[in-house]
Amino acid sequence: MQTRYTPAGVVSDLSGRIQRDSEGRLQHLITLEGLSRDELNALLDLAQFYVRAVGDLPARDQSLAGHTVANLFFEPSTRTRVSFELAARRLGAEVVNLDMQSSSRVKGETVLDTIYTLQAMHADILVMRDAEPGLPAFVARQVAPHVCILNAGEAHLSHPTQGLLDALTIRQARSDFSQLRVLIAGDIAHSRVARSAWQALTTLGIGELRIAAPEDLMPPEGEFARAVRFSDIDAAIEGVDVIMALRIQRERIIHSQIPDEATYHRTFGITEERLRRAHPDVIVMHPGPMNRDVEIASEVADGPRSMIQQQVTNGVAVRMAVLATIVRNVQARRQF
Ligand code: NCD
Repeated sequence: MQTRYTPAGVVSDLSGRIQRDSEGRLQHLITLEGLSRDELNALLDLAQFYVRAVGDLPARDQSLAGHTVANLFFEPSTRTRVSFELAARRLGAEVVNLDMQSSSRVKGETVLDTIYTLQAMHADILVMRDAEPGLPAFVARQVAPHVCILNAGEAHLSHPTQGLLDALTIRQARSDFSQLRVLIAGDIAHSRVARSAWQALTTLGIGELRIAAPEDLMPPEGEFARAVRFSDIDAAIEGVDVIMALRIQRERIIHSQIPDEATYHRTFGITEERLRRAHPDVIVMHPGPMNRDVEIASEVADGPRSMIQQQVTNGVAVRMAVLATIVRNVQARRQF
């Protein structure tokens, strides 16, 4: 099993085995690593079933009736937290949102004690976001067999539902992945979004994946296998069908020569002018939150090629698909 020892001594499972039950079904969703193309497509198909156009009433069913979802976000979040909450409610679950700023963790309680407290209250699906690598896998090893851990953002390492919603957004726009050139641009080194997108898109058989970053924001060699690396954004953008722009993760950068915002925009920002080098039908994505006119020009973010709002809509559908799948697997386990 591929493992990673973090400074805190927690072992993070990067192979994805910890997230499966003894029958190989997904009990938790911690990483997209190890999910097969069929598994990814099944999740995307179910998500697509839940997608509704903005203006229509959202999809609803009772797949999660009787279940309790607890949102534990130890890092800021708008889209991910709200979409997990809406997804769970639209599937009939009870939802609690913990205010982690005033939670017992700040009084010295361990995360595990908080988890056991929630488990004792019948919370059976725990959605977690944390800056510490390895925490979701660590918690997944400790919880009762009926409890599911869903990773909503783990340090710079993993953000599986974001990877799924990005893949879904691309799939809606372009059906044949094998012909596509996708560019992920910006702070790749510190981005869990980039890592999960890379996992999803390589498993789904993307034609070519490019990553472009200034030298200080490029991940170490050995990561992002088979991706083509660029330090020049103009060269990277040439002919691509999809561009994913990323925010600089200032909160994860300790020592780095990050240029000031204006310089970064001039040398690396996704602008209308640069888009002319891409395929004429290029689509532009961004996970949010955006720093307008830093990594992406406002006119691109709001322009006709932008899929940014569609990504947000897809985010709810993907989280519904993940929740429904995980609960179906728990129910299958209970029948034996
Ligand atoms: C991202 C995250 O938190 O990793 N946002 C998100 O989940 N939509 C990206 C970011 O913070 O830049």
